[in-house]
Amino acid sequence: MPADTPPPSSPALPPSRGKGASDLTEAEALDELTVLADELAAHDIRYYQDEAPTVSDAEYDVLKRRNEAIEAVFPHLVRDNSPSMRVGAARAEKFSPVEHGVPMLSLDNAFSDEEAAEFDARVRRFLKLGEEEVAYTAEPKIDGLSASLRYEDGRLVQGATRGDGRVGEDVTENFRTINDIPSRLKGFGWPEVIEIRGEVYLGHADFAALNAAAEAAGQKTYVNARNAASGSLRQLDARITAARPLRFFAYTWGLISAPFAQTQGEALAMLAEWGFKTTPQTQAVKGLSGLLRAYADFSKQRPKLTFDIDGVVYKVDRLDWQQRLGFVSRSPRWAIARKFPAEQATTVLRAIDLQVGRTGAITPVARLEPVFVGGVTVENATLHNADEIARKDIRVGDTVILQRAGDVIPQVLGPAPDTPRGPEPYAFPTHCPCPLHTPLARETTASGAETVVRRCTGEFACPFQRIEHLKHFVSRRAFDIEGLGEKQLVAFYEEELVREPADIFRLARDEAKLASLREREGYGEVSIRNLVAGIEARRTIALDRFIYGLGIRHVGETTAMTLARGYLTAEAFLAAMDKVADRDPEAVEELDALDQVGAAVIEAAAAYFAADHNRRIVAALVGELDIQDALAPKTDTAVAGKTVVFTGSLEHMTRDEAKAQAERLGAKVSGSVSKKTDLVVAGPGAGSKLKTAAELGIQVLTEDEWLALVGA
Ligand code: IVH
Repeated sequence: MPADTPPPSSPALPPSRGKGASDLTEAEALDELTVLADELAAHDIRYYQDEAPTVSDAEYDVLKRRNEAIEAVFPHLVRDNSPSMRVGAARAEKFSPVEHGVPMLSLDNAFSDEEAAEFDARVRRFLKLGEEEVAYTAEPKIDGLSASLRYEDGRLVQGATRGDGRVGEDVTENFRTINDIPSRLKGFGWPEVIEIRGEVYLGHADFAALNAAAEAAGQKTYVNARNAASGSLRQLDARITAARPLRFFAYTWGLISAPFAQTQGEALAMLAEWGFKTTPQTQAVKGLSGLLRAYADFSKQRPKLTFDIDGVVYKVDRLDWQQRLGFVSRSPRWAIARKFPAEQATTVLRAIDLQVGRTGAITPVARLEPVFVGGVTVENATLHNADEIARKDIRVGDTVILQRAGDVIPQVLGPAPDTPRGPEPYAFPTHCPCPLHTPLARETTASGAETVVRRCTGEFACPFQRIEHLKHFVSRRAFDIEGLGEKQLVAFYEEELVREPADIFRLARDEAKLASLREREGYGEVSIRNLVAGIEARRTIALDRFIYGLGIRHVGETTAMTLARGYLTAEAFLAAMDKVADRDPEAVEELDALDQVGAAVIEAAAAYFAADHNRRIVAALVGELDIQDALAPKTDTAVAGKTVVFTGSLEHMTRDEAKAQAERLGAKVSGSVSKKTDLVVAGPGAGSKLKTAAELGIQVLTEDEWLALVGA
């Protein structure tokens, strides 16, 4: 690996993340959803496949909720592979895929009494129960990994991990080694076909012994019992699994050929009769008061339990009610996980280091006197950002309170009261620790508001960011190079075949480098031909895609299109940007005059083109390309100059097509309805935007009326 490959870092927050989802522009929403999808997918892999998560469950939940909030406001931006459609991670390649008879979903979380109350209220509202108290089960939320065991005629025929919720990994032989999993069901009354679901876990004592043995043998130890359980189960050699004292609790089921119980309580009793272990702590409770009492009770029991739990699962007891309540997105409406708060400890803050994230955002990291909290020894924790450090007056030398929820990357909450303080307030560095030592500026949002993030402006030239910029460059909406996916790009980057965009186009013409590719495993003549063809196909590129691909902050697709239409040729655009970088008043004014270009874009463009490394990289790229002039926007159509919002579903065209068509005809397409909107085109399922349009008295058209208007 090259020396300047960035170290792993915590996710960098896009500047728009400080805003409410409904305050985002469409471009910001798209940017953020893209970043969130990447982040969540990476966390999923680290959690499910590598068994080495790098963020806490709570931090993960924040990301997931943010993703859902943005999708709720911008439903047309929901990606096919959205994190909200996924539970868990794609399975690793080493096991065969198993499609679950019924998908394995996940539970929504509640973090407070208020959220538990909302859950209970929602259940009663949905079932129209009025004041009637609902019967629930309250079960320990076992912190292991979920498993689905298929029994046919009472025999275990297949066992699978959850995988992505739809398709898991076949680890049947490994399950057969677990004592708590019967290979034949006992008793009677089991359906002919049933998928038994539950949690594989390791008890505390067994986990400690496993790690002690690993340490003695000089092998890698596991961070916590769940990761150890997951690692132990997902072994190719079932003999290794057999040597690990894995346990299993059954708590629910998937596919069944016939119903076998009327309540969750009854079902659990049946599972026990058939030979499964069920959690003895499970309680039958009534109403909200029962839910809250159970939570208090489980919190008290938790330290005495012999296995890890991370909360309480509440389930509506009556199965017919569960059926009526059904599911919302990927979670049942009839159950919720009430999570325990994070564990805390105090320790001494030795130093503060700066980490440069994938997008240049700087995260201060606390280096701590090692301390044991939440089941692991912690030495590093996030301090979030400069403002947080200042607000909490965190100083090097302080004794601080450390919090760790569920898993790794814990956070420093602030100085512990009544402990000696560090000698002086922390002065946040003014320059980036990357080799470019760029001055760190406070980041602004697209609307010009300052955020808490400080960012390195090294872009392509910063070794910590370069790969992310390259990924953006080849992404679908930028250069979209067929045959050059993220995986290949990262491999090419690490082998130093591609270090900047121009290298991609040089590669296609470099016989020596192509020959070196031929020696790589999995790279045949056909893939090389396809790669070269994919690259060559993009040597000719539309100006707006070129501009978007540069990855200038705040220049999303829409702004890139505006810039392309404003300057029409690459030469004019680049000449203008050079002047903007020099703060030439006329050039700045010309840029400012373009629709939707404000202070943030001007600042970002000026900073980008003021940096010599960026100019050099852009010049090299331009030398490789044939950039097509943009067409001046039409001014003689019915919709020229109008701002249009599409909402609801469209029947005759995709949203991208509708947008492209409108833009071709000189209209501007926006994601949200405001006073500036001229037309709203509403299809079936249109919601809040339609309401806003009515409130603002904006003209609303059906899709057909729109097509008639534009003469399509
Ligand atoms: S019921 C529709 N009950 O928590 C989901 N899950 O995100 C039904 N878990 O994937 C799950 N203890 O791995 C259920 N008593 C319990 C549980 C439990 C732990 C896990 C399970 C699930 C996750 C929820």
